[in-house]
Amino acid sequence: MIGATLPRRDGPAKLAGAAPYAWEHRVENPAYVHPVQATVVRGRVTGFDLTAAAALDGVVAILTHENAPRLATSDDAELGILQDDAVHFRGQLIGAVVAETPEVARHAAGLVRADYAEEPHETRLRADSDELYTPEHVNPALSTESSRGDVETAMAGSPVTVDEVYTTPMEHNNPMEPHTTIAHWDGARLTLYDSTQGVHALREAAAPLLGLDEDQVRVIAPHVGGGFGSKGQPHAPMVLASLCARHLPGRHVKLALTRQQMFSLVGYRTPTIQRIRLGADRGGVLSAIAVDVIEQTSRIKEFAEQTATPSRSMYAAPHRRTGHRLAKLDVPVPSWMRAPGECPGMFGPEVAMDELAVRCGVDPIALRIRNEPDVDPDTGKPFSSRNLVGCLEEGARRFGWPSRPPGTRASLVDGWWVGTGVASSTYPVHVKPGSTAAIRYLGDGRYRVAIGAADIGTGTWTTLAQIAAEALGVDVDRIDLRIGDTDLPKASVAGGSSGLNSWGSTVVEAARAFRDKFGADPDPDDEATGDTPDIPAQERFAMRAFGAQFAEVAVHADTGQVEVRRLLGVFAAGRIVNPRTARSQFLGGMTMGLSMALHEESVVDHRYGHVVNHDLAEYHIATNADVQSLEAHWLDEHDPHVNPLGTKGIGEIGIVGTAAAIANAAYHATGVRVRDLPITPDRFL
Ligand code: MOS
Repeated sequence: MIGATLPRRDGPAKLAGAAPYAWEHRVENPAYVHPVQATVVRGRVTGFDLTAAAALDGVVAILTHENAPRLATSDDAELGILQDDAVHFRGQLIGAVVAETPEVARHAAGLVRADYAEEPHETRLRADSDELYTPEHVNPALSTESSRGDVETAMAGSPVTVDEVYTTPMEHNNPMEPHTTIAHWDGARLTLYDSTQGVHALREAAAPLLGLDEDQVRVIAPHVGGGFGSKGQPHAPMVLASLCARHLPGRHVKLALTRQQMFSLVGYRTPTIQRIRLGADRGGVLSAIAVDVIEQTSRIKEFAEQTATPSRSMYAAPHRRTGHRLAKLDVPVPSWMRAPGECPGMFGPEVAMDELAVRCGVDPIALRIRNEPDVDPDTGKPFSSRNLVGCLEEGARRFGWPSRPPGTRASLVDGWWVGTGVASSTYPVHVKPGSTAAIRYLGDGRYRVAIGAADIGTGTWTTLAQIAAEALGVDVDRIDLRIGDTDLPKASVAGGSSGLNSWGSTVVEAARAFRDKFGADPDPDDEATGDTPDIPAQERFAMRAFGAQFAEVAVHADTGQVEVRRLLGVFAAGRIVNPRTARSQFLGGMTMGLSMALHEESVVDHRYGHVVNHDLAEYHIATNADVQSLEAHWLDEHDPHVNPLGTKGIGEIGIVGTAAAIANAAYHATGVRVRDLPITPDRFL
C-alpha cells in the first residue's frame, strides 16, 4: 500500500467537474461580493461617494469602515479591515459591494469614489536604508542570527574568497484557483466554504476576529486548487466575505478574488538582498561561511522570511554566521511562498559555491563533497539521515556530469551557447503537533478515517488513504477517507511540507489504537482516535531532506534568449508513499524553480505602490513551452527517527536550488555570472 503507484482517488471526480472547489458548492440564495481597494499607498480615507454605485440595479449592500460590522479584535492589522479610515498599502481593502450578480458587484465597485488624505510612502527595499532592523525571530520561530568562530579573521586568512551580493525579486503565488470564500451566517453560526490549506487553522483565525467560539464556525474545503503557501496563513478577503455575510443574514455571500486582486491581498515572497561570503583554502575546503540577508516586511505586521537559515546546515566550516535585517515598508504583508526561506536562501549561497569552485579550479560537485559536514554544523547534532552526497553522485551519473567540459563558453551549437550547472537542495523535516484522527468500522470490511486534513492538489485524498490501509492491514478500497472539514477531528495546516508527515503519523496512531481496542474483527460503529505522536528524536537529531539539482541551459548568442533544455533532480526525502503523486510534487517544485529562475518578478511602480504586471499575461509563469526535459528521481532512504512513517515531506524541496543550478549552467554556457533573478536575455548582451 505505502509505496504503491496508486492513481489519484479524486481524479475521476476532478475530471468530471464533480469535485467542488470553494466557489462551486451549491448554496441557497447567493449574493456576490466585489472588493473596493485603496488607490493610494498610505494615508486616510476622508470620504466616500456611493451614489452611483448604490443606484445600480441589483446592488444589495455597500460596506465601508463607516457601516461595516465591528470585529471583536484588531490585534492583526492585516485582518482588521473596514474598522477605521487608515490606508497602509496600495490595494488594501477599504470596502465591498454586494450584489445579485458578480457582474453588477464588479461594476458597482468601480463606481465607488473614495477621497483620501495622502501621506508620503516608501515601498522600495534598499540595502543602504538606515531603518533596517533585526527581527526577534524569523519564520516560523527560528533565531534571527547564528554565529560560530570568527568569520572576519577567517576570511582575511583565506587564500580564496567569494564576497558577492545576490538578489531575488518580489514574487507572487498564482495558484490556478483564486482565493475564494463563501460565507453564511445562520443565527450565531458561521459557515465558510474556503480555498484554504487548513480548515482548522482558518477557523482559529476567524472565530476570535468575529467574536465567536470556535465551535460556532465551520470551515469546509474538500478540494483546493493549489496554494503554495498563499492559502496557508489567513488573509483579509476571508474577513471581508464574513463581514458581508454578517451584514446580510441568510444570504450565502460569495467572494472570489480576481487575478489582479491576488497581487495585493494574499501575501507574496519578499525580495531579498543576500551578501554571501565564503573563505576557503586552495582546494576549496571552507573555513568561513557568512550569509547576511536584507528583506522587507510591512509596516503593519511583521513577516520575517528565514532566508539565511538553510546555510546553517549545508556545509562544514569552523567560522560561520548568518543574520537577517528587515525594512518596514508601506507594502502588503509578505507571507509564505513555496519553501519560504529555503528557496530564496539557497539561491545566493549555491551560486556562491559555484563561484568558489571556479576560483579554486575544483569541480562543483567535488567542492560540495569536500565540505560535507559530519554533524549539523549549526547545532552540532547528528543528522537523522543525510544523503546530499548520494544525491549529487546519483544525479551526476544520470545527468552525464562527468563529460562536462571544463571552462565556460565551451559549446556553441546552432547559435546557442550550451552549459550545465548543479546546485544542492535542502528542506527541514516538520511534524506539526496537534492533529487527531478518528477511525470507525462501518461493517463489511470498510473503515471510515476522518481527519480535517487538506488536499491542495498534492494527493492527500490518495496518500492518506494508502497510509490508513496499510496501518489497518486492509485494501485501500476499504478506506472511506474524510478530510477538509472542521466537523472532522482537528488537523494541522498543509504547510512546511508537513502535511503527510503529521496527518499520516496521526492516522497510524489511530489505527494502532483501533486495533488495540477492537482487534482484527471489530463490530460496526466501533471507533477509536489517535493523536499526533511526539517525536522525541527531534531533540537528538537534525532532520532535513536533501537533493541535487542539475540543469542544462542554452543561451542564444545573438538574442540572449535563455532556455532550460534539461532539469534533473535527485532527492533524499525519506519514504515515498506514492511514486506517482511524489513525482508530481518534485516536478512541480522544479518547474516552479525554473519559473523563478527565468521569469517571475513582481514589478512595483514605486510612485504608486502597486505591482504593475499583476496578471498572467505580464507575470509570466513557466508553462509547457518553457519546460523541455524534466526528470525527478529519489534515493531509497530509510530514516527511523523523523516520524513513525519515515517520510520527510516533499512539497517544497523540489523548488529549492533549481534557480541556482540554472544560473550556474548559464554561467558555464556563457561566462556571464548572473547574481540577480530572474535571468533575463538582457544579461547576456
Ligand atoms: Mo508552504 S509555502 O509552507 O505552504
